[in-house]
Amino acid sequence: MVLAGQEVINFASNDYLGLAGDERLMAAATAAIAKFGTGSTGSRLLSGHRELHRELESAIASTKQTEDALVFSSGYLANLGAITALVGKRDLIFSDQYNHSSLKNGAILSGAAVVEYPHCDMAVLKTQLNQQRQNYRRCLILTDSVFSMDGDLCPMTALLAIACLIQSST
Ligand SMILES: Cc1ncc(COP(=O)(O)O)c(C=O)c1O
Repeated sequence: MVLAGQEVINFASNDYLGLAGDERLMAAATAAIAKFGTGSTGSRLLSGHRELHRELESAIASTKQTEDALVFSSGYLANLGAITALVGKRDLIFSDQYNHSSLKNGAILSGAAVVEYPHCDMAVLKTQLNQQRQNYRRCLILTDSVFSMDGDLCPMTALLAIACLIQSST
């Protein structure tokens, strides 16, 4: 975008790569609308599934070299869907206090017990995990990688080490 006559990258949006205004994508979207209309007309479970959805998911799975992929229409919904699929009533979630609201609400919706740890505090996380892990079936550590309000990063290497340590002792 241009701000006060200067070209800058707008990190207040999620369009860091400028794809929303990319002419190739705009042409592809327009062609898709001409062929399929402006909406899928229903949930995928009922009448809304299109072959295009599967093609996109297959392409993502192939690019990311994963078994499969599932596309959600927003990041918020992806977090709600993923968390509620992974854990339930007999499980425990440790959640960074500064997590995005989609992670917090996904945790609540899952029915798991939720414990918030102080922002990026790995010492507290480790202590609480040691104290509580054995009382639950599964345990999910939930964190943003880049925190959206301050732009700081979670200590991923330390967090993974704690998760592996706990996993190997259960
Ligand atoms: C860290 C984080 N997670 C999830 C979301 C939700 O994504 P979406 O706006 O695509 O629903 C946002 C967006 O605002 C975000 O900043």
